[in-house]
Amino acid sequence: MKIQLFDLTRDLAAIRDLYAACFAEPPWCERFDMNELDAWFTEMTEWPDAIFLVGTEGDRIVAGAIGFNVCRKPGICELIGDTDRNSFYIAELFVDPTYRERGACQKLNEHMLRLASLFGYRRGSVRTSVSQSVIQHVFINKLGFEIVSRQDVVSTKWIDGVEQEVPDTRVIMTGTIRDYLAKQRLLEVRGFHSGH
Ligand SMILES: CC(C)(COP(=O)(O)OP(=O)(O)OC[C@H]1O[C@@H](n2cnc3c(N)ncnc32)[C@H](O)[C@@H]1OP(=O)(O)O)[C@@H](O)C(=O)NCCC(=O)NCCS
Repeated sequence: MKIQLFDLTRDLAAIRDLYAACFAEPPWCERFDMNELDAWFTEMTEWPDAIFLVGTEGDRIVAGAIGFNVCRKPGICELIGDTDRNSFYIAELFVDPTYRERGACQKLNEHMLRLASLFGYRRGSVRTSVSQSVIQHVFINKLGFEIVSRQDVVSTKWIDGVEQEVPDTRVIMTGTIRDYLAKQRLLEVRGFHSGH
């Protein structure tokens, strides 16, 4: 999988369709107005703090990752401690169902966190459903994040073609973003980089 920055002209239609398909699945069961999704993706390209990546296999977009400063999510900010109030919020991770369990999510996420680290972020935050165990596994077991808060919500879901208001619990996790700059400096000191 190749990782590229999201390109509004090239990628909008494919990423919107992939996003809508991935979040139509349980536990989300969401339906989207495609025009609203287009407007949201377009708006995000104007946010200076946003990182929006796509994973491609040949000409096909197979994954997406979006993150930005958590201050854009006041509802999350009020549930996290002061040390995480300026963290990088991993907002969306989604992978084509036919391309799953091959490390795409982890690869894309790691790339996004490396860029966030280069932007100067030292802490990350992420929210998911208590039933989304893969994301909890990735952040807790692999990246050392911790659950710092829980949030009871009622979400509109489409189940068997019927719109329903369903209670759900979200977990909010925060943790340290690995210091990729320090690692790079160490490699330079040891002469592994030939840039200078
Ligand atoms: C969550 C999602 C992005 C994971 O994508 P993915 O590319 O399949 O994930 P990866 O292949 O990188 O796997 C990450 C880890 O989870 C594990 N994993 C992935 N899918 C799994 C599954 N269905 N069952 C058990 N473990 C699973 C992998 O084995 C890997 O762990 P490991 O390195 O310890 O072996 C994907 O399932 C998805 O798009 N889901 C729908 C949208 C969604 O819920 N997004 C998250 C919103 S917060």
